[in-house]
Amino acid sequence: MAGERLDKLLASTGRWSRREVKGLIKEGRVLVDGVPAAAGEEKADPALCRILVDGAAVELCRRTYIMLHKPAGVLSATEDARQRTVLDLLSPELRRRGLFPVGRLDRDTEGLLLLTDDGELAHRLLSPKRHVDKLYFARLDRPLGEADRAAFAAGVTLADGTVCRPAGLELLGDGREVLVTLHEGKFHQIKRMTASRGSAVCYLKRLAMGPLRLDESLAPGQYRPLTVTEVMKIGGKM
Ligand code: URA
Repeated sequence: MAGERLDKLLASTGRWSRREVKGLIKEGRVLVDGVPAAAGEEKADPALCRILVDGAAVELCRRTYIMLHKPAGVLSATEDARQRTVLDLLSPELRRRGLFPVGRLDRDTEGLLLLTDDGELAHRLLSPKRHVDKLYFARLDRPLGEADRAAFAAGVTLADGTVCRPAGLELLGDGREVLVTLHEGKFHQIKRMTASRGSAVCYLKRLAMGPLRLDESLAPGQYRPLTVTEVMKIGGKM
């Protein structure tokens, strides 16, 4: 069965240590869908299974965290009168949960977008004080070079005079493809940063946000719940 190890799931509630979970399982006190669990390594899907300890249901996920591979052509918003939003990509069941995107990607940008109903976590991930790094892949119409890498590292000044924080620029091949690491999130930031260096973005994809990396097995438009490990890494609630 797909899912997470039972010992990890139960320990993630904070109610028992892994060692205690092992004991509970050995004593036959843990039931998964009515069947006594045989071992901690057994896998269970927290969204689908009913897990009981000593006859009481264990609430595993208090919040919902969805990793979406945002396709181009949809808005990072919860509703819009005219255009499709990322919420329109989800199942009706998920749409009813009051999820919202954590931050925004432009309509034509693809890649990692986290959807959740955990406002506290969203606030933490987006807070300018925390500087959660975001990693992007960009394809450009003109190559960038060493001087641009140094300018990004020093902090680019945009056309309107806005000074950006230092950012990472890794040149791939001849510099027409680059990896950019941002420590902040300004409107159209990457497009404006490369424009200030004389190069326009033709394609943009977010690969990572803090410790969360886009699952490349997700095609654009596909999504999946975060794993327990991912939820713990970003400081979500289990
Ligand atoms: N920078 C941009 O220009 N667009 C995005 O969608 C994200 C970062």
